[in-house]
Amino acid sequence: MATYATPAAAAPAGVSSSLRARAGSPLRSKPLAAPKRGGGGKRSTLRVAAVSTPAKPSGGTPKQDFDWDNLGFGLVETSFMYRTECAIDGEWTKGTVVPYGNLSMHPSAAVLNYGQGIFEGMKAFRTAGSDDVVVFRPDQNAARFAEGAGRMSMPPVPADVFIDAVKKCVSANREWVPPEGKGSLYLRPLLIGSGPILGLGPAPSYTFLIYCSPVASYFKGGKMAPIDLTVEETYHRAAPGGTGSTKCIGNYSPVLKVQLAAKKAGFSDVIYLDAVENKYIEEVSSCNFFCVKGKTIATPALGGSILPGITRKSIIDIARAKGFTVEERNVSVEEVLEADECFCCGTAVVVVPVGSITVKGEKTQFQGGKTGPVAQEMYDELTGIQSGKVEGPDGWLEVVPEEYHL
Ligand SMILES: Cc1ncc(COP(=O)(O)O)c(C=O)c1O
Repeated sequence: MATYATPAAAAPAGVSSSLRARAGSPLRSKPLAAPKRGGGGKRSTLRVAAVSTPAKPSGGTPKQDFDWDNLGFGLVETSFMYRTECAIDGEWTKGTVVPYGNLSMHPSAAVLNYGQGIFEGMKAFRTAGSDDVVVFRPDQNAARFAEGAGRMSMPPVPADVFIDAVKKCVSANREWVPPEGKGSLYLRPLLIGSGPILGLGPAPSYTFLIYCSPVASYFKGGKMAPIDLTVEETYHRAAPGGTGSTKCIGNYSPVLKVQLAAKKAGFSDVIYLDAVENKYIEEVSSCNFFCVKGKTIATPALGGSILPGITRKSIIDIARAKGFTVEERNVSVEEVLEADECFCCGTAVVVVPVGSITVKGEKTQFQGGKTGPVAQEMYDELTGIQSGKVEGPDGWLEVVPEEYHL
């Protein structure tokens, strides 16, 4: 069994409720304080999101008239979303859930004209053997969201407002959390410069919202089906001093050109190289990269151009607890082609084995194109923790009480 770091080291402060699951025993969670309504602090003059639409509790169990067995990774519109707003010099206050629906925005909103926006991706799970719903490491998403806001000159959402928002959104959409083992509720927090501006500058006001969608496997082949990657040598995803480590909206459309071409050529996705030497692996379009040689696992170091993945961080902890040596450093394409196996990880993809990597038209297979044992071990431990079947580090699961949004 894996031994994890002490709770103090593993779980940063600020998570109001944590849960430790033990194999075969019911989940235990600390009782939560009653949710505060409205929040405190100074209200921004532009704050319009205190929509007091009464949200009906959606029930504790998964929606009955929904085909959970054929869930993919497409948008399924759920019942509610969360929304709040703040002026550039204002303070964020806790918002409420509102019915899921379109946004109305000024044509000169900064996000539409200058791409002033960031997002997050995170998941809520229904746990095994109980009807508890948990969110995986929301404190980590809160921290990355705040850092990204700073990079994009937006007022950072405080961690308590962020986690309250996540819990309200999940609670209101609880019936959309798939049955255990059939998927998860993917959450998409967005922070956008929604106020109008003409000349280049930060928006006068901001919208923080979270919508969600039930999802299952990200890649076509289903969970743990090995993916075929190609190394991209012309286009780069990020450069030193840029925004590669920020989950800003502008990072994603530029990869589509390359990704679509790769898919057309029969690949699952693309590996990006560093923009300086065109030699070291950075990451894949939406996930981080690991390679394994014996008991050593290497992953590209975070140097500012790679997204600091929360799954990456979790896999590093899991691998070390299982006795692997994990190295965060430059990982060259040459080295990777000699690896025993490779895998990718991220919130959306979970852990996915790499069946092959193609460089300049030459294909190298790993594990005969099948799932490697380390990828399988990492997948089993991570998903075991997320479903509450395996005991993970303290603070990794945040329980969402029923009717928290009311
Ligand atoms: C570019 C990129 N890299 C890596 C990841 C994985 O990050 P995380 O594990 O936090 O989902 C993502 C996920 O959204 C991503 O967009």
